[in-house]
This record gives sequence, C-alpha cells and structure tokens, in this order.
Amino acid sequence: MNEFLKAAIETAREAGAILRGEFERPKQISYKGEVDIVTESDRRSEAIIVARLKERFPGHAIVAEEGGGAVAAGAKYCWYVDPLDGTTNFAHGYPCFAVSIGLSEDGEPVAGVVFNPVSEELFSAVRGEGAWLNERPIRVSSVGTLATSLVATGFPTHHRKRSANINYYWEFTLRSHGVRRDGSAALDLCSVACGRFDAFWEFNLKPWDTAAGALIVREAGGVVTDLAGVPYRVGGPNLLASNGLIHEEMMQVAEIAAKL
Ligand code: IPD
Ligand code: CA
Ligand code: CA
Repeated sequence: MNEFLKAAIETAREAGAILRGEFERPKQISYKGEVDIVTESDRRSEAIIVARLKERFPGHAIVAEEGGGAVAAGAKYCWYVDPLDGTTNFAHGYPCFAVSIGLSEDGEPVAGVVFNPVSEELFSAVRGEGAWLNERPIRVSSVGTLATSLVATGFPTHHRKRSANINYYWEFTLRSHGVRRDGSAALDLCSVACGRFDAFWEFNLKPWDTAAGALIVREAGGVVTDLAGVPYRVGGPNLLASNGLIHEEMMQVAEIAAKL
C-alpha cells in the first residue's frame, strides 16, 4: 500500500479511537464563535495526528484546524487535518462525525482518508488508483435526474446570519427526493462517493473539511467543481460534488437560487 495512505489510515484510526472513547462521556465545550464550538476531544485528536505525521514525515507541512500544524517552508507535501469533522454532532451525542486527513503534493490532492469511528467506516483514496470503503472499491451512484436524487448540504457555523444557502436548500428540496443536512462535510462527500447521496454542495468550507473527501469523490468517479462548474480547488469559496450525471442540473438550480 502507498506509504502515505498507510500512514493516514493508521493515524486516523488512532485518533478515531480517542474520539470513540470520549463520545459517550460528558463533553467540555468551549466557543470559538457564536455557535462554533470546540471540545477537548478536537484538541486531543489533533495533537495525536500532528505528532504522528511529524514523526513520520518531518519535512512535510501540516495545516490542522485547531492550529497545531507544522510550517515547513517550500514543502512539497502538505497534510490537511480535520481532527473532528462534525463537532456539533459529537457534542450532542449524534453519531455522525469523522477524522479527515488529506495530503497534497505540489498543491494537488494525492491521498485522503475519512474515518467514522462509530460506524467504523473508513473511506480512502489515492490519486489515479481509486476509492474504497474499508476494503471495498466504491463508486458514485447512477441516478440520472435531480428529481430522483437524494442530495445534501451544510451550513457554516461562522457568518451564518449572512448565509444565502437557505434559498438553495429550499430550491433543491422542491426538486429532489430530499436534502439532508448531516453536519459533517467530510462524511457528506464520502456519501456522494459511495452513492448514498447523489450530490452535495456547501459554501465556505475550509481546506481540512474537503481535502480528503473531494479526492475520494473524484476517485469514485464523481465530479467536484464550484457552483459555476470550475474544477474545485481545496479552499475554494463553494463546492459542488456529484455523481457527474446530475451535475449540470445542480448548477442550473444553483443559478436560480443565487438570484433569490
Ligand atoms: C463543520 C462540518 C459541517 C459544515 C461546517 C463545518 P467542524 O466542520 O463539516 O458539516 O457544515 O461548515 O465547519 O466544525 O465540525 O469541523
Ligand atoms: Ca470540519
Ligand atoms: Ca473540526
């Protein structure tokens, strides 16, 4: 197995075990913003991931959500770490959260892992080699119309008063089998990759939310762009991931919603 993927999987499993152990216990919550919460578990998970990646790859850069990353000037490789994607779910005892670890080489995503420690589902991908759920190769769905699709979105915890996404939510709800809002962008992307969702969109996601999941969707045969159809780059202002077949229709509805 690819050395980077192996490291990411082992590290995600180790951090996931910490989260799983702490999931049932009372949580220590603090606030980063009005409703943007963080727990001690976010920090513990991040500390172990960053420590492991530094041990194995001392020359690599690490961008980690809670700020514990590593700067490496001119580094060819950069890891994007979300130690706990779905903190709000975690804090409320809703078992939908994950560890997300993505790696880019010269700015291009090359490996990614998303691990849900409650369901023990581990999604992974390596550029040019495919995507997997645990050991099994995965593919996006073959649903061909938005009207027969199940799609998903998310709402940011920051700037939420200004989010126009509620208009998109409404328009997509009227035109599909339904819109889910599950609270973990990394898992939402993986749900597109394995065909549970036919598409997912969101605004203002951060590199650690999407670095792994976007690669997993693409390697599972899906398409990831912005809402205007331009190939998505980690850190972009909005993202649209789909099975490819309903991508055009998703963009058309997004254009309608943008005018509301
Ligand atoms: C959040 C989740 C959520 C998305 C937010 C993210 P966090 O990440 O991915 O689904 O809607 O935009 O910030 O804060 O739980 O790591
Ligand atoms: Ca996140
Ligand atoms: Ca997080």
